[in-house]
Amino acid sequence: MDVNNLPIYILITYIIYGIIHEWWSEETTAVVTGANKGIGFAVVKRLLELGLTVVLTARNAENGIQAADSLRLTGFRNVHFGCLDISDPSSIAAFASWFRHNFGVLDILVNNAAVSFNAVGENLINEPETIIKTNFYGPKLLTEALLPLFRRSVSVSRILNMSSRLGTLNKLRSPSIRRILESEDLTNEQIDATVTQFLQDVKSGTWEKQGWPENWPDYAISKMALNAYSRVLARRYDGKKLSVNCLCPGFTRTSMTGGQGTHTADEAAATVAKLVLIPPEKLTSGKFYICLEPKKIIAKL
Ligand SMILES: NC(=O)c1ccc[n+]([C@@H]2O[C@H](COP(=O)([O-])OP(=O)(O)OC[C@H]3O[C@@H](n4cnc5c(N)ncnc54)[C@H](OP(=O)(O)O)[C@@H]3O)[C@@H](O)[C@H]2O)c1
Repeated sequence: MDVNNLPIYILITYIIYGIIHEWWSEETTAVVTGANKGIGFAVVKRLLELGLTVVLTARNAENGIQAADSLRLTGFRNVHFGCLDISDPSSIAAFASWFRHNFGVLDILVNNAAVSFNAVGENLINEPETIIKTNFYGPKLLTEALLPLFRRSVSVSRILNMSSRLGTLNKLRSPSIRRILESEDLTNEQIDATVTQFLQDVKSGTWEKQGWPENWPDYAISKMALNAYSRVLARRYDGKKLSVNCLCPGFTRTSMTGGQGTHTADEAAATVAKLVLIPPEKLTSGKFYICLEPKKIIAKL
């Protein structure tokens, strides 16, 4: 249902009877990145269960097609596969063009794909460039490529960036870097410069002295930059019917954690779905949410 096209008296009736609380339909289209497994796959499944149309994306076409087929076999008609490697700008451009041609408009983007090269309990800096390229520049480039396609109707389009509490600003030990990133006037140029500085400090072997996060530093900086970009984007689209938030799903049992965690990917996905489907009048933007307990608590920071 496109509420934009409804006569005003019907719209008012919907509001009065609360029907608008379930604002989505099968015409509501969501894109989920890195969805061949883990939380991404579970999010696709949950959104399909709730009746949306979902584009499941994956960098490996075989894995992605297999994942989408497995959902189709269980009866979900509205699942589509799109090949997308978020660390590759040409793949992002090709996906955006394919999406525009096949779907035209977008309602929800879940930037879920990410990498970490540390096992739980390990704390090495491995391939920091790949981590930053995948976890920060990837979602940013994809978002910018898809921005013109968001429907931005009365129901408000939504971007949810999957982040981590490791990337919250209180993990920064440098007061000057923290001051930059928490500024109300933060710019994308400052975020890029911060990330570049981190990579230079890693290269020169001085990162420990510069006050960067101690735990999973490369992953933490990638998510910190993603959180910062989300706030800048939320400000840019304030009042323009696009909401941008971040969520830490909590310690979830997936391949990223080697199967360890306090809850399952399905439980994390239930929280993701709840957050991206919040009724328009209750929707926030520029927030960072933490899932403390599956389904139960979402803390706003
Ligand atoms: N699990 C946790 O405890 C936890 C905690 C905090 C935050 N998170 C965040 O939650 C999100 C989902 O994590 P998860 O635990 O479900 O991890 P996961 O099981 O390792 O899944 C990650 C997904 O991202 C994909 N991916 C990686 N690099 C990609 C690229 N360049 N292009 C496209 N897709 C790519 C992977 O594809 P391949 O199969 O091809 O590798 C996979 O589908 C991530 O953003 C993660 O940082 C997770």
